[in-house]
Amino acid sequence: MAHTNKHYLDLPGSYFFTEISQRVNTYKKTHPEKSIIRLSIGDVTRPLVPAVIKALHDATDEMGQPSSFHGYGPEHGYEFLIDEIIANDYTSRNVHIEADEIFVSDGTKCDIANIQELFDPSDTVAIIDPVYPVYIDSNVMSGRLGKLINGIWSKLIYLPCTIENNFIPELPTQHPDIIYLCYPNNPTGTVLSKDQLTIWVNYAKKERAIILFDAAYEAYITDPTIPHSIYEIDGAKEVAIEFRSFSKTAGFTGLRCAYTVIPKELKANTREGNEQYLNMMWNRRQTTKYNGCSYIVQKAASAIYTPEGRKQIQESIQYYMNNALIIQNAITQMGITAVGGINAPYVWIKTPDNLSSWDFFDLLLQNAGVVGTPGIGFGPHGEGYFRLTGFGSYEDTNKAIERIQKALLI
Ligand code: MLT
Repeated sequence: MAHTNKHYLDLPGSYFFTEISQRVNTYKKTHPEKSIIRLSIGDVTRPLVPAVIKALHDATDEMGQPSSFHGYGPEHGYEFLIDEIIANDYTSRNVHIEADEIFVSDGTKCDIANIQELFDPSDTVAIIDPVYPVYIDSNVMSGRLGKLINGIWSKLIYLPCTIENNFIPELPTQHPDIIYLCYPNNPTGTVLSKDQLTIWVNYAKKERAIILFDAAYEAYITDPTIPHSIYEIDGAKEVAIEFRSFSKTAGFTGLRCAYTVIPKELKANTREGNEQYLNMMWNRRQTTKYNGCSYIVQKAASAIYTPEGRKQIQESIQYYMNNALIIQNAITQMGITAVGGINAPYVWIKTPDNLSSWDFFDLLLQNAGVVGTPGIGFGPHGEGYFRLTGFGSYEDTNKAIERIQKALLI
């Protein structure tokens, strides 16, 4: 008889965003006449930009000719894409990254969920809270976080980010082996300055911990002083893995392309004390379990680095950031505390009258027909908060704001 991975039983019923969809669908069944605006999951709504569409067509044509057909691609990704990534995302910011430190993939979600396989199941994990639920769920699946007791994972080191600490996580008092940071942050939309990030890099060095740095939203940074990459911090290549995505940068949520950077000097020990290079381990893992992102999609990703591609994706980013600003301004004008929306497409709202996140979710769904994301789903320190996204259309965003204003004035 086969036996299941018992840690799956520790997981809450469904993935957070699935639960939201289920609740909205149930509501729609009983209220079919209600018009619903979704500003919940951070999914893009603008179509792919013309430069990307052209690259997709051209690459598809290439695949139809014997002379330009491509079978299995190179293990790390195609050179034409990796060269653009290095030049535009790193060299331009004075960061030296080599081609074999980059692993092109079909998404940050899967990379960040899979990366924990490289670490010992008994390693201790520290995670900023609230945060993207994938970090926690993937570690629960491998038994690293213990049991969920009254909403708290028994072995997880929480790094709270709340109004009280201005959403800046403090260093933990307990040693972590692995630290998850996400900046610009999902869900709070807040960022860390260079000095604040330096504190974490120095701490990781001292603790010999590894930082898993999710930078999926870096393209939304508007403040020129904010680092886009953790490798802008001296010494970070010794302690950090970085995750980057084309999903939010270039609207690839339905096309799928991302990359992960694992510097060659990055090491961790076996329990017996032998040093292992994480780049080599991930290479072994990916070559065994993964066959890469398609040629056509990598061609599409490389098109965002052309002058026209860059201009076109920038227009979309500005469009979403304008929505985020509309939300942020309107909520603040209503006398409700909200952060984010300046260097990230998310606005993080303190629920009025100390409502629970789910009560506020129900209130907006029922009285305004607006779906947002309850903060508690991002972790216990998200209770009493609520997230709205700038990824909707301009028209929906304005309509949603009007409806929220009316609903809250009742
Ligand atoms: C979110 O809404 O938090 C994210 O879009 C989900 C994701 O990127 O998978």
